[in-house]
Amino acid sequence: MRTSLIALFVLAAVCLCAAPAQASRPDVPAQPIEFKGAKKTVMFNHKTHSAYDCNVCHHEVNGKESYAKCASSGCHEDLKGRKSPALYAVVHNRKELKFQTCMSCHVKVAAEKPDQKKALTGCKGSLCHAS
Ligand code: HEC
Ligand code: HEC
Repeated sequence: MRTSLIALFVLAAVCLCAAPAQASRPDVPAQPIEFKGAKKTVMFNHKTHSAYDCNVCHHEVNGKESYAKCASSGCHEDLKGRKSPALYAVVHNRKELKFQTCMSCHVKVAAEKPDQKKALTGCKGSLCHAS
């Protein structure tokens, strides 16, 4: 009896501590959002990426969960550079960098579904840059 009471207290404490971390997670945008780069805007749709954990893209910053805009000051604010952490690089690099890039995942997906190659890894005329 005593052990189960202790177990209950431990469980309650764990739940109480875990709750605030979850509460700080914002709602997933329901509509496609404009993800702006140096030149081309991508309509980014969370719905088509719902199979993945948030932190695949919204990686931790200094050990904390973050949902700041990618181009926030001190982050990927250089839009055009070809080297990480510039935004162009962390979106387009075909190899994984410190974190997975948009393109490194799309390349893997297209390798499994060759019919999606142009749509997911192409430039003009792809689903990312339709025009
Ligand atoms: C495949 C990549 C990816 C995944 C997975 C992902 N997001 Fe995002 N999210 C983005 C991108 C890209 C943006 C646009 C960032 C910008 O504009 O700089 C964004 C923007 C947001 C924004 C800001 C919206 C705004 O208009 O300011 C919120 C909030 C957000 N995501 C929450 C989430 C949550 C919660 C999850 C997990 C349930 C999640 N995202 C999963 C890529 C992703
Ligand atoms: C971990 C893997 C992964 C990452 C990272 C990822 N994607 Fe995708 N993306 C996918 C898959 C899988 C699809 C195909 C989804 C489908 O057709 O159902 C897709 C489809 C898309 C599409 C076309 C479908 C649509 O929603 O209009 C766009 C545009 C897109 N991704 C943009 C991005 C951008 C921008 C980023 C980086 C911020 C990104 N993706 C990161 C896996 C990923």
